[in-house]
Formats: sequence, C-alpha cells, structure tokens
Amino acid sequence: MQITNLNKGAINSIRPVFDGDKPKIYIETYGCQMNVNDSEVVAAIMQKAGYSVTKDIGDANLILINTCSVRDNAEQRVWGRLEYFRQEKKKRANVTVGVIGCMAERLKDKLLENNIVDIVIGPDAYRELPKLVEKTESGQKGINILLSRDETYADISPVRLDKTGVTAFISIMRGCNNVCAFCVVPYTRGSERSRNPETIIRELKELSENGYKEVTLLGQNVDSYSWNGVTFADLLAMVAESTPAMRVRFSTSHPKDMTDKVLETMAKYGNICNYIHLPVQSGSSAILQSMNRKYNREEYLQRIETIRKIIPDCAISTDIITGFCKETQEDHEDTLSLMREVGYDFAYMFKYSERPGTKAARHFKDDVPEDVKIKRLTEIIDLQSELSLASHRKDLNSIVEVLVEDTSKRSENDLCGRTPQNKMVVFPKGNHKIGDLVKVKITDCSQATLKGIAQTMFNNEEHRDTTLPDVSVNA
Ligand code: SAH
Ligand code: SF4
Ligand code: F3S
Repeated sequence: MQITNLNKGAINSIRPVFDGDKPKIYIETYGCQMNVNDSEVVAAIMQKAGYSVTKDIGDANLILINTCSVRDNAEQRVWGRLEYFRQEKKKRANVTVGVIGCMAERLKDKLLENNIVDIVIGPDAYRELPKLVEKTESGQKGINILLSRDETYADISPVRLDKTGVTAFISIMRGCNNVCAFCVVPYTRGSERSRNPETIIRELKELSENGYKEVTLLGQNVDSYSWNGVTFADLLAMVAESTPAMRVRFSTSHPKDMTDKVLETMAKYGNICNYIHLPVQSGSSAILQSMNRKYNREEYLQRIETIRKIIPDCAISTDIITGFCKETQEDHEDTLSLMREVGYDFAYMFKYSERPGTKAARHFKDDVPEDVKIKRLTEIIDLQSELSLASHRKDLNSIVEVLVEDTSKRSENDLCGRTPQNKMVVFPKGNHKIGDLVKVKITDCSQATLKGIAQTMFNNEEHRDTTLPDVSVNA
C-alpha cells in the first residue's frame, strides 16, 4: 500500500458541501491510501450529521487528524501537528480536536493526556463520531477504539476529497490477517473482512456517473478478498466489465497470495492497468522468513517471471525495509541483487522502525545500528534511482496513454498525468484539460518523470511524424 501524506477538502456523495451556516470540519490525513479513503468516509458521516467541510483550519469547529502508526516518524509528525492544534484551540473557543485512525487505535486514552485532544476514535468506530462530538459539548472527552469483525462502511458513499475529480479510491476490504513480524497494521486495523461486491459496484458506478476516470481498489492484501465464493480475480472482472471506460488499479498485492487468475484477468481487460505493486520487503530468504512473509526469494522471483510472461508490459513496484533485525551485509546485498534482477520501475524504501507489540518487537532485537541502516537505505535508494531512470529511458520515443490528473506543479502551461504503468508524464497543455485521455510521445525523461508532447501538438510541420497513430481521445 502506498504511503501518502495528503491534506484535502471533502464532499457529499461526490460533491463537498461548503456551507457558511453549518459547523465546520477540517480533516488532515497521514498514512496510506486506505486512510485517505477513510477520511472521505468520515467526511460523509459528518456531513450527514450536519457539518460542512472546510479546507481552512482557522475556520473549523472540529479538527480531525487521521493518523498512521506504521513507523515511529509517522507518529512523531502527528505529535508535532497536535502541538500546532493546541495553538488553534488557544486562539478560539469551541474548537474540538479529534485523533482518528491507526494511532488512535494504538495509543488509546494516552492521547487524551495532553489537554489538546478531545476525541479518540479507531478505524472501525467512525459511525460513532457524531455522538462523541456531542459528548464533548458538555466538556467530556470521547473515546471509542472498538475493532469490528464486520464493519466495512459498505453503505456509505465517501465524500471525495480529491479536488480534481479524476481518480478515486474504493476500499474493498479492511484489516489484515497476516502477521508480518515488523507490522503494526493488524493491531491497528483488526482482522480482515471483505466488502459485499454489489456495494463496490454501486460505488464504482456512482463515480463513473460523476465523471471519474480511474479507480483504485484498496485492501492491505487484495489477493485474499473473498465474498461468498467471489475471489479477487472475479471482483476485478466484475469491476472492469461494469465500467469499461474507467481505468482500474488495485493495491496491495501479496507475493504469497497473488494468483495467475488475477494476472490473466488483468491481461484480458484493457481497462485494468498493467501495473502491480508487489512489496518484497527483503531480497534475503533468511530475513523474509524472520519477517514471516511466507515466501522466499526464489518464490518471489518466480511470481515476477509469471507476471512478465502473462503481462509483458506490466510495470512493477515494491516496498523494501532495510535494517530489519539481524540483517547482515550479505542479506543487504541480496536485496540489492534482487532489485537489479527484477528491475523495479519504482520503489518505496524504508528503514526498519520497531513497533511496540509486534512479533519482531517481542522476539527480536532491533540490532542493526542506525548508521548502518542509513548507509544501506542510501544504497538502496541510489540503486532504485538508476533502475527508475532505466525504466523511463525504455519509454523514450514511444507513445503512451496519459490520463490527465492535474496541472503540473512546475508550470501552469503543462499538464501531468499517469500512464497505465503508473508513470508520471508531464507535457505542454495545448487544448487538453484535466480528465482527458491523451496520447503523448515521450521525448525526455528523468528518474521521476517522463516528458513528452501530445500527439495533437504534432499537427504542425515541425513536429509532423507520420508513424504516430490517431489524435488524442477526449474521454
Ligand atoms: N499491506 C501492505 C503494507 C502496508 S504498510 C503490504 O503488505 O504491502 C506499507 C509498507 O510499510 C510495508 O510494505 C513495509 O514496507 C513498510 N513498513 C511496515 N512496517 C514497517 C516498519 N515497522 N518499519 C519500516 N517499514 C515498515
Ligand atoms: Fe502488514 Fe503484512 Fe498485513 Fe501488509 S500483509 S498490512 S505488511 S501484516
Ligand atoms: Fe495505513 Fe499507516 Fe494504518 S500505513 S493502515 S495508516 S498504520
């Protein structure tokens, strides 16, 4: 699952309500895509309870921070933000502060000890938020960190916080039943449960009707999705068929569970993007075993080979943890050699951070010195930069399909968007706009982005290239 740090506004079944008279809620989101989507669920719940969403913290009656516990630095950032919220509370009367998400679940009432936080609410208790807010009106604190076996928020249409209205997340399941030794997620999110596919398709169609062009199906381990005999491969096919014009992505796949059927389904439907995020964590079989990942190096590489066979142009990204307990220099080199062997298009790379209560914290020593962790991480990042650049270089002179997501941050005259392989492309705007599907010829690249020219820009003599197929498609 990709880790993001987003802070966005909100909507009511697709459109946010920004109403001057209503009490206002401000939500700040840290952590993974699942948290981003949860903030949208929370916005929907609070909108129904009479709140409107504000993007201005100075305007908010209720400030919520949706938190992540996956590494210590993720938690430290939240503590820093809470100190800032303290100032907001001093400035104005009647400001309520709530901590929601994974840190709320992990730290429970400890979060209430600092005179900043009024409400603590875990990932499965968001429906209780309006009641807890009411409770704080009489000066009490509110806490609910009960985990559930069946909550999936299936009936709630998330209030979409993405300003551009092109891409959206749909959570297809919650929780995790794996016990990777390093990971806090099963403790903060509880056990795994899948969501009724009918409600997923309903949400998908709603998005399509509201002009969305791409959906990402979310779960901690999407390959173990299961609902009355419907597998993840079945769900993917249902989704692809229900909205053929919608691009479909998913995250996260687990190397031990990803089936050939999923790969075959990806190959069969043109609207399922040829991109797989397949976290390896380490290239050493010994480390993988102590991480309790339930596959070894050879099995992982076998999965990669099968992906390449069934979907030859599939981009592959990964997550890597460096400096896990007892990791030797040889283990580290195994990680580097595996990265080279796979040739990842992209990677999220982390230093191991011990999380209280996990298997690793209980049974192993966090014994790789900090300076060694930093050195190894630097080597991994440097190698991935080379690999990403090599992957981008392969795209030079080819024509790619880009779904335009936004205006480029660097220049108002450029647009940016992604290829099905999830590569970011920047190109001069011309007559194109956000939400268009544009064919772009790649002319330049860095390790982070591809640069190109939309085919429609080739109409003048200077750029005429008769080998190029048809002009752009405005979806
Ligand atoms: N369900 C997802 C993981 C979500 S956490 C999956 O299985 O891929 C996202 C990533 O954070 C993990 O893949 C891992 O690389 C990293 N991570 C998790 N716990 C960590 C820890 N204790 N220290 C460092 N990185 C960690
Ligand atoms: Fe954590 Fe492993 Fe579950 Fe991913 S699969 S959330 S890494 S326990
Ligand atoms: Fe996501 Fe962080 Fe929780 S990665 S599941 S928000 S611990």
